[in-house]
Amino acid sequence: MQLLKDAAFAIRIAVADPDFQRDFTMALSKPFPSIFKVLVVCCFTIIPLSQQKIVRDFVKGVSYGNFAETDNERLNTNILKSLSVRNLTECEGKCLINGNCFSGNYRKNKNQHGEHDCELLADNKFTSAQLMTVENSFKHFSVASTCDQIPCRNGGTCIPVYENNSYACQCPPIAESKHCEEVQWTAFWWYDANTAWPDWEEDVLKYDFGHCNSTDPYCFGRLPWSAVEDSTEMLAVDSENTVYKWQFNSSNDVAHAVWRAFHDHQHTYYQEVVNRQEWAPDVLSGNSPEKAQDSFMYRDQNGIRSILLDDDNCNCFSSLSFGRGMCYDDGSQYWKGVDTLYDPNCNMPGAGVGLTLYFRSLY
Ligand SMILES: *[C@@H]1O[C@H](CO)[C@@H](O)[C@H](O)[C@H]1NC(C)=O
Ligand SMILES: *[C@@H]1O[C@H](CO)[C@@H](O)[C@H](O)[C@H]1NC(C)=O
Ligand SMILES: *[C@@H]1O[C@H](CO)[C@@H](O)[C@H](O)[C@H]1NC(C)=O
Ligand SMILES: *[C@@H]1O[C@H](CO)[C@@H](O)[C@H](O)[C@H]1NC(C)=O
Repeated sequence: MQLLKDAAFAIRIAVADPDFQRDFTMALSKPFPSIFKVLVVCCFTIIPLSQQKIVRDFVKGVSYGNFAETDNERLNTNILKSLSVRNLTECEGKCLINGNCFSGNYRKNKNQHGEHDCELLADNKFTSAQLMTVENSFKHFSVASTCDQIPCRNGGTCIPVYENNSYACQCPPIAESKHCEEVQWTAFWWYDANTAWPDWEEDVLKYDFGHCNSTDPYCFGRLPWSAVEDSTEMLAVDSENTVYKWQFNSSNDVAHAVWRAFHDHQHTYYQEVVNRQEWAPDVLSGNSPEKAQDSFMYRDQNGIRSILLDDDNCNCFSSLSFGRGMCYDDGSQYWKGVDTLYDPNCNMPGAGVGLTLYFRSLY
């Protein structure tokens, strides 16, 4: 045990808001001593052995951190502070005394000072999981958390609440409830990013609902017959993480034409539904369409029956756009695939974009 009760560490800490943003000033006149995995320092009070994995109460003189380590990993995120330390314990100790630090990277190989690089981070491996990389020369450590038990289902992101060793699940758009376990949406159409266009397919809504296997890289499926127009919602999620939600509506010409395509497999030709009522999506993530989505087509274009929901039947500022581009298409090999939901210009469907369409019944 090492004592923190050292006059050299005149530390004032204030818990400012519920986000636990800690505003503190520190006057460190010498390097902080190394700190143990679980360091309990006290002077006048008996410390309740709480469930908390990290406590930083420099006023009461109580600080300890319980860190979980993973070998050969590094969280590649903004570095709060880079240091040189003698060992991993010292690196974790540096994190503990930095009020914004919740994890760190420790380089196992020695640096030119015969020590080890120590990177203090404000992020954590749960909320920034996509930034975690395999690097054999590193060890990653983070404040132990109930998130380690992977409580969030269906792709939900676990957000640690360190102050009471708790967590919250941030659910993807298709899931709800505390652990994201309630999935109300069913996928009926998808095209995984980087799927090569299947040359034998000539209709992007060719198949009955239920035809596809969930492991297929694409599914040109339609809504099930049992779906009811005015009580069906559609959710679209693309590979740029734009998420739009629409409610079908038999009183809206555009929505109804989309329904006739997705449910009844019926064409809408050029200029048949153009500049009618707007069918605006709820934007759950990403940018809103630049122009009113008031025009729709589902028709053959250079050998592929394609979809275009946009502002004027001509490709630019579209939301749903897949199959072939339906305006500037010169028949080239390239302009087939999927366009992003948010198209701020005149992008054509092409390779590299992924999209999944889901439906749910409101009743
Ligand atoms: C880490 O280094 C400190 C000195 O900085 C030393 O007191 C401590 O015993 C070392 N811990 C381990 C686990 O080697
Ligand atoms: C932990 O704290 C958060 C934020 O104050 C609160 O929402 C949550 O209910 C607490 N959890 C437990 C288990 O006390
Ligand atoms: C779905 O695809 C997987 C992998 O190709 C296969 O094992 C499975 O039998 C398929 N399921 C159906 C219902 O076709
Ligand atoms: C259906 O569309 C019509 C015409 O755009 C609109 O007036 C009405 O509010 C919409 N109903 C719903 C439930 O969105």
